[in-house]
Amino acid sequence: MPAPAAKYTAERILWKHHWTDRLISFRLSRDPAFRFTPGQFARLGLQISETGFVWRAYSIVSASWDDYLEFYSIVVPEGEFTPRLARLEVGDQILVDKTPNGFFTTDRFPDGKDLWLLATGTALGPYLSILHETAVWQRFRHIVLVHSVREAAELSYQAEIAALRQHPLWAEHGHKLQYLPVVTRETLPGTLSQRIPAMLADGSLERAAGVTLSPERSRIMICGSPQMVEDTHRRLKSMGYALSRLSAPAQLALENGW
Ligand SMILES: Cc1cc2nc3c(=O)[nH]c(=O)nc-3n(C[C@H](O)[C@H](O)[C@H](O)COP(=O)(O)OP(=O)(O)OC[C@H]3O[C@@H](n4cnc5c(N)ncnc54)[C@H](O)[C@@H]3O)c2cc1C
Ligand SMILES: NC(=O)c1ccc[n+]([C@@H]2O[C@H](COP(=O)([O-])OP(=O)(O)OC[C@H]3O[C@@H](n4cnc5c(N)ncnc54)[C@H](OP(=O)(O)O)[C@@H]3O)[C@@H](O)[C@H]2O)c1
Repeated sequence: MPAPAAKYTAERILWKHHWTDRLISFRLSRDPAFRFTPGQFARLGLQISETGFVWRAYSIVSASWDDYLEFYSIVVPEGEFTPRLARLEVGDQILVDKTPNGFFTTDRFPDGKDLWLLATGTALGPYLSILHETAVWQRFRHIVLVHSVREAAELSYQAEIAALRQHPLWAEHGHKLQYLPVVTRETLPGTLSQRIPAMLADGSLERAAGVTLSPERSRIMICGSPQMVEDTHRRLKSMGYALSRLSAPAQLALENGW
């Protein structure tokens, strides 16, 4: 009998970048058969002994058409996966499950005017992939990307976000993107400093974006720590927003960052 086909492919690290001592990005070779929808996550594996593997979920940062897969990772010193990941070099191997996962995608929303992308920490990642979809730029009138971090050094991908506006595939829509960095534990002049749920409650996020929030026009994605997702969801529920489901399309999509 032929051996069952492996559920994963073995890929190589093509590029790696340390933003801080606890934030890294890396690119892996991509199996040509690996297809995903922006917003989905991959399962990455490391072989830690002859028979032992450790697998973790990672949102895909790269565009659906890139010939590599990019990821943005925290390094948790006491974690099983990320200290090993941080020690790997270009050329080293990482396993990628053949099937992407998740429903954190823009196709779950009914049409609306504005797309709000709310992130804390590494949860910025899926939005960078989503912002490489031409259809997203065509579909919405405003796109507001909010990235909340503790310290300014954790505001990764700023140059890449700025470059998105000039991308030849959607340059005519580039002006639609508003990027609102939020730094909560340092004072950075000109930058927002409160947590996202508080800024939703007092209207300061809308004022900073110059875009009105309303259940009729806003479609809102929320990704971050489980507590941030819960607090932001609760706040928006109290303002009249609901989770978008296949059977009942609405305004909100949520993803816990771990
Ligand atoms: C759907 C999904 C998508 C994910 N996408 C990403 C991603 O794109 N990038 C990423 O770095 N991680 C992501 N994660 C988390 C990732 O799977 C790992 O948990 C993480 O990389 C740490 O692995 P670890 O084994 O070192 O520590 P673990 O034992 O897995 O985690 C230890 C602790 O570290 C904290 N932690 C875990 N992940 C994060 C994080 N991203 N930011 C801040 N604190 C964290 C939590 O308190 C957790 O209990 C995702 C998780 C899920 C469920
Ligand atoms: N140097 C280090 O060793 C170091 C440094 C930082 C973090 N860590 C550890 O790493 C883990 C993850 O840290 P992180 O900074 O990536 O993620 P984080 O603690 O989730 O913080 C990222 C951003 O999310 C905000 N936030 C946190 N909880 C929120 C909530 N309930 N609602 C809305 N916003 C919320 C934070 O604001 P606030 O600032 O108001 O919390 C911050 O702006 C933490 O468990 C921490 O212990 C270690």
